[in-house]
Amino acid sequence: MAETVPAQTLEDRFEAVVAAEQRIEPRDWMPDAYRATLIRQIAQHAHSEIIGMQPEGNWLTRAPSLRRKAILLAKAQDEAGHGLYLYAAAETLGVDRAELTEKLISGRQKYSSIFNYPTLTFADVGVIGWLVDGAAICNQVPLCRCSYGPYARAMVRICKEESFHQRQGYELLMTLMRGTEAQRRMVQDAVDRWWWPSLMMFGPSDADSPNTARSMAWRIKRHSNDELRRRFVDMTVPQAEHLGVTLPDPELRWNEERGGWDFGEPDWSELTRVIHGQGPCNAQRVERRRTAHEDGAWVREAAVAYAAKRAAEAAGPTEASEATNVTEQENGK
Ligand SMILES: [Fe+2]
Ligand SMILES: [Fe+2]
Repeated sequence: MAETVPAQTLEDRFEAVVAAEQRIEPRDWMPDAYRATLIRQIAQHAHSEIIGMQPEGNWLTRAPSLRRKAILLAKAQDEAGHGLYLYAAAETLGVDRAELTEKLISGRQKYSSIFNYPTLTFADVGVIGWLVDGAAICNQVPLCRCSYGPYARAMVRICKEESFHQRQGYELLMTLMRGTEAQRRMVQDAVDRWWWPSLMMFGPSDADSPNTARSMAWRIKRHSNDELRRRFVDMTVPQAEHLGVTLPDPELRWNEERGGWDFGEPDWSELTRVIHGQGPCNAQRVERRRTAHEDGAWVREAAVAYAAKRAAEAAGPTEASEATNVTEQENGK
């Protein structure tokens, strides 16, 4: 008979594994709140990958060349793949992908606020790659060391592709900047619109982020929102200089003492509005996702029917089919 392990011992073991920088795996005991936090975070991350295909998808049919169209298609497909790895990682925690999708389209689970902004010109495709995928990399590289094994492993693969996304965005912008005056203005306009929303991708300031401490203790999160935001700004300012664009922040200046860039405060009331559904494209994004989900119902039904058929075949011939075979033999077939 198996011995029952006291809860205290299980919790000690969990704490010891986390403290030793080892990974918690799906069959291991974990505190309920750890599981719930991970489900919420991974689902939100998966939803962001899937919804994130929409703003750029808006330009697939209007990409200016075959080459740009092929690159953009490949990127959008990568994002779909990221969503799938992440839904699979969430499922190891005992939730179902269908249930998570339902929560997304009914507004009970969120996705990154950045995808509620419109893509007005093709320069937005470049700026999304450079700034949005760039911010995603800052956020996600530390997640490769997250204490939950399936999430950490999914992130390793995702981060490799994100760095390709960032480079393709930067390369597109470099090309536009070498072009006409109108193209350079188009890039600057896109940077002006995306800069602040990109900074908001790191979430509220540390003072307003009550769950950070616990996530850091569990080694899900490795750095605070403000720390990651500073890291992003430090990485991006020299890239903006090289590109020849101005970042729309009059308070941006080098801090000799700290060895980093000081920058202005994002408009947090805007972040709150967008998170609560009042961004420029929230309704449109969710509606599009709902329609795509409904349009895909026949694929899911066909897959279930096929799986049932294969299972029935594997279970051996049924009485009815045996009877048919006997009849066929008697008829000399
Ligand atoms: Fe992605
Ligand atoms: Fe990406």
